[in-house]
Amino acid sequence: MFRRFLLCHPGGGGEWWLVSGGADRSRSPEETGVAGEPADSQQIADHGRDQWNERHRSRDGDEARPPSEFLIDLAHLLGPPGKVIDLAGGQGRNGLHLAALGHDVEIWDISVEALGRTREEAARRNLRVETLEVDLENSRPGPSSADSLLCFYYLQRSLFQSMIAALRPGGTIVMETFTLDQQSSGRGPRNPAYLLGPNELLSAFSSLRILRYREEELPDGDHVASILARREG
Ligand SMILES: C[S@@+](CC[C@H](N)C(=O)[O-])C[C@H]1O[C@@H](n2cnc3c(N)ncnc32)[C@H](O)[C@@H]1O
Repeated sequence: MFRRFLLCHPGGGGEWWLVSGGADRSRSPEETGVAGEPADSQQIADHGRDQWNERHRSRDGDEARPPSEFLIDLAHLLGPPGKVIDLAGGQGRNGLHLAALGHDVEIWDISVEALGRTREEAARRNLRVETLEVDLENSRPGPSSADSLLCFYYLQRSLFQSMIAALRPGGTIVMETFTLDQQSSGRGPRNPAYLLGPNELLSAFSSLRILRYREEELPDGDHVASILARREG
């Protein structure tokens, strides 16, 4: 089942624009997430959204993990509080961390379950965030619409240029996801289409100033690449 998003303005300055010509499908947990084999493409087209909703509903995945250590350690490099969009932000672990630091955060995700959990957690912690149900295959952040963009554990290469264009001068991108080395761990996505190659984020964001980059095995055994890059003013 496909669901398209109409061109709209969600308020608070986040411009959306409908992208034509992209693949009209959602990614399944198996493609972008942490466990299992990719489903076949028809199944993904029909059920990606439902699968993600189910995964977020079950609470037995690791979608409600603490914020990324990379983000915690480097949040000061984002500069003064500004507009942040957390792409495929899930249950909001990273966006809520920045909201607690005073940023004005929008969390975009295809899963209404994830966004509901985000709102619950925000209310519990007395934090304010906007949540937007967005299929990133069809919608992108508009040009110069954010001071910072987060993208954690969601790899859609067709977003990279829009992410760069969405930065305001001085704005930052923080991204982290699995690398090809993760295949040997037996966890997470196995399809190489959803794993980063060596130096891939360095190349993708080479038009920005790279302030931090790492490719490494984390203490929990995950193999990831992480980048923080700034658009020069
Ligand atoms: C592995 S989770 C990562 C969530 C969050 N970024 C984090 O690190 O905790 C991937 C997220 O991508 C979302 N997602 C999958 N396909 C999407 C799409 N086409 N558009 C927007 N979000 C999508 C899922 O609902 C899920 O929350």
